[in-house]
Amino acid sequence: MTMTATAPAPKNAISAKPGPYTVETVLSVSHYTDQLFHFRITRPDTFRFRSGEFIMIGLPKEDGKPLLRAYSVASPFWDEALDFYSIKVPDGPLTSRLQHIKAGDEVLLGRKPVGTLVLDALKPGKRLYMISTGTGIAPFASLIRDPETYEKFDEVILTHTCRQSAELTYGVELVEAVKDDELIGEFAREKLVHFTSVTREDGPVKGRVTDMIESGELFDRLGVPPLDPAVDRVMICGSEGLLKDVKQICLDRNFVEGSNAAPADFVVEKAFVST
Ligand code: A2P
Repeated sequence: MTMTATAPAPKNAISAKPGPYTVETVLSVSHYTDQLFHFRITRPDTFRFRSGEFIMIGLPKEDGKPLLRAYSVASPFWDEALDFYSIKVPDGPLTSRLQHIKAGDEVLLGRKPVGTLVLDALKPGKRLYMISTGTGIAPFASLIRDPETYEKFDEVILTHTCRQSAELTYGVELVEAVKDDELIGEFAREKLVHFTSVTREDGPVKGRVTDMIESGELFDRLGVPPLDPAVDRVMICGSEGLLKDVKQICLDRNFVEGSNAAPADFVVEKAFVST
């Protein structure tokens, strides 16, 4: 008798045609607030990225076609899996569905990471500011776990501003874990400063980071001199408004915008996913 072995169809299988993405498995999901969640997926052996880059992530639509959005990779390049930090938009085409994923489900992962929020786009400096709001902290979650960040800078200042303190939890837990990390904990304990503020409830520090830069309050609180293009470098990631305002602050102080092709003093990237 001839036996024909047929592999059972995987649960929740996505019939992805070969395309500019691979099909990955969700390893874990954590919900921080009713608007924010983190998920971790498998990483193909061949997937390489630079800390701070973003990639397309998605799910197939009803008609089987992929629905993809740009997400910053939040995990370090040396990690075996990939982390992402996302907003949940109730009527957002992707996140209204993505927020319900659970371990074992499948998601689509783009093949080509890109972005300007990378160390290569900055000239050497002394102090690196990473200025973020909301889910804009995601690329910095990767960069603060890259040993090169600490090789290149004497001081690394991560600022994170949200409306409410519950939205700061992901960053607070992350920085604690980074300082305890076997690989980079030693550098992070010496060089990484985490500055948080909230804007719509009372907290230890209340206010927009832009106002605190303009007034000098940020530098007083950190015990450092005001922004200076001779020694400081700036990475910005958050809402359109934040990008525009911090970019203007940098330009007013004679900082030059950098890119992969022409490294300079500051770089900007929108926190993409809003749908
Ligand atoms: P605010 O509450 O004063 O608007 P959002 O959820 O709208 O993306 O905002 C996230 C955080 O970013 C909020 O604390 C918000 O402050 C702050 N924010 C929004 N726009 C700007 C901006 N142009 N400059 C600085 N901070 C901003």
